[in-house]
Amino acid sequence: MAKGASGAAPMSSSSSRSRPDVEIRPLRAADAPSVSALASAAASTPGDNVYPIEHLDLELRGKSERPVSPDRAAFGAFLAGRLVATACATPEAGGRGYLSRVYVAPGLRGAGIGRAMIEHLEAFLKDRGSSVAYLRFFGARMPLQRLWIRAGYARVGTARVLSLSGSPGFVVMCTKRLL
Ligand SMILES: CC(C)(COP(=O)(O)OP(=O)(O)OC[C@H]1O[C@@H](n2cnc3c(N)ncnc32)[C@H](O)[C@@H]1OP(=O)(O)O)[C@@H](O)C(=O)NCCC(=O)NCCS
Repeated sequence: MAKGASGAAPMSSSSSRSRPDVEIRPLRAADAPSVSALASAAASTPGDNVYPIEHLDLELRGKSERPVSPDRAAFGAFLAGRLVATACATPEAGGRGYLSRVYVAPGLRGAGIGRAMIEHLEAFLKDRGSSVAYLRFFGARMPLQRLWIRAGYARVGTARVLSLSGSPGFVVMCTKRLL
């Protein structure tokens, strides 16, 4: 990704596919209503309702009751001024960087926006000295593994968890060396 991943940047095109011409930049408090609209789309899209985007607008407004790392950066991808994707990155101690909340508007999937967001997060983390990026996803969503494997991540472990409804499941952890 281009220089200064903490600021606005055009999408890179490592893929042969033609990606939509989106701008990726940090989300601001003023973007909270747009994030809220995207969260509504998630809530009404089958399979997306487990995705925790709904708290991101509260976080942007500084009203989240959940603790949020002050180092975490939230990014949005904008297409003709409209928010179409979100993603977060958190540089951590020990040279690790955590990726989270990668979400693309349902009607725009499969066009490379998710991959572009991942590349942007990686550039952001590298700028801050992270040598390894990692993420987790729920095992029930195993097809997602393709997204991460295609982006160069390796599956390194699983952990048993209980879902909110109390049913057993597991989370998958993936990592990628950045430096
Ligand atoms: C997962 C998500 C972010 C992918 O975004 P996207 O813009 O559609 O992904 P891209 O077009 O950049 O696809 C990149 C690669 O991942 C693959 N991929 C993307 N989503 C996939 C999925 N759900 N299942 C399987 N493969 C997937 C694509 O096929 C592509 O691989 P290819 O180049 O071999 O064809 C998007 O589907 C989404 O927002 N889903 C709901 C939220 C979610 O699950 N987030 C991930 C949390 S870990």
